[in-house]
Amino acid sequence: MPIYLDHAATTSVLPEVKEAMLPFFDEKFGNPSSIHHYGRVVRTAMDEARQKSAQEINAEPRQIFFTSGGTEADNLALLGTALRMKEHSKDHIIITAIEHHAVLDACHYLERCGFRVTYLPVDTEGKVDIDQLKNALNRKTALISVMYGNNEVGTIQPIKKIGELAKEIGVLFHTDAVQAFGVERIDVDELMIDLLTLSSHKIGGPKGVGALYVSESHSILPRMFGGSQERRKRPGTENVPGILGFGKAVEISSKRRNDHLMHMKEIRQRFIEELHNRKIRFVINGHPHDVLPHICNISFIGIDSETMLINLDLNGIACSSGSACTSGSLERSHVLEAMNLPGEVIDSAIRFSFGYQTTFDEIVKAAKVIEKIIHQLSK
Ligand SMILES: Cc1ncc(COP(=O)(O)O)c(C=O)c1O
Repeated sequence: MPIYLDHAATTSVLPEVKEAMLPFFDEKFGNPSSIHHYGRVVRTAMDEARQKSAQEINAEPRQIFFTSGGTEADNLALLGTALRMKEHSKDHIIITAIEHHAVLDACHYLERCGFRVTYLPVDTEGKVDIDQLKNALNRKTALISVMYGNNEVGTIQPIKKIGELAKEIGVLFHTDAVQAFGVERIDVDELMIDLLTLSSHKIGGPKGVGALYVSESHSILPRMFGGSQERRKRPGTENVPGILGFGKAVEISSKRRNDHLMHMKEIRQRFIEELHNRKIRFVINGHPHDVLPHICNISFIGIDSETMLINLDLNGIACSSGSACTSGSLERSHVLEAMNLPGEVIDSAIRFSFGYQTTFDEIVKAAKVIEKIIHQLSK
């Protein structure tokens, strides 16, 4: 099997998670909205999953709304807040230029609906500047949305400072924590976050499930209609096995977070050392310290990303050239472009991303393969 270095794209479902999900496909198949025994069994299990997810971010269970994943949670946060705030004559939103497409494209749609959006620039390490954020604010600003940690380069934003600023001026603050959840300790109270996006499949849970946290002081408008599920904010019969799997993944990742964090830091460090030891010419993209430990974005100058990816794949290494959604298209990474990196750096960037299962042996093998590919291509 190829060595999997694409954990930021998705992770395999943990065995304990799979086990926890299985009964909910057959013996416990009830609809959580049913008042009879079958329904109650499922409702109780779902309540537990909600409780675990809430506890993990220091929230209340009623503040958690399950969705079909990070993309839907981002859309619900942006569109649901924009529509609500329009009622208060606020129609301006601030995001960064390096947000995931789930946020960016939701904002493009909002612009078509008459909202105004400011796209904050970032520096060459992928950080936003608080003063630029302050300058972008006006009395019509409804929402600031700044991702916790970037999915392509891993740069972590000054979330606490942004939360404090937002609170001080009375503007809502959303953060997409899809990549940070599971590696960073997130406390919505301490960080003054009003809306937070989570996804299950990045932490060993199943795909197609996620959650949006919404603070008590805010009320989003729903984007779908038709039922009373998720307190009418996200109607439709719930993805019960998915939600329970997500709950189990949260429970496990919470227990193992510190060990995983240490392991991935060491793996990342070792990978970089292995490349250095082999005298390979490369640059690391993203912030040198404030970076998610599982993401390592590297440009092998002079070798375009596609050629490198194909060769890595042929040699048994699975990774990607950017986010899962943009790789496969030949578009340049909007993240690296926003970071204002030279064209040769952008065009040769590869994202390696690690999981707790990644071994030192795999990392050494990957470095050897990279050395071999560079040697072959330079002939
Ligand atoms: C930062 C970020 N936000 C949102 C998403 C979308 O999450 P999902 O795949 O659960 O829709 C991703 C997925 O890669 C992501 O990395």
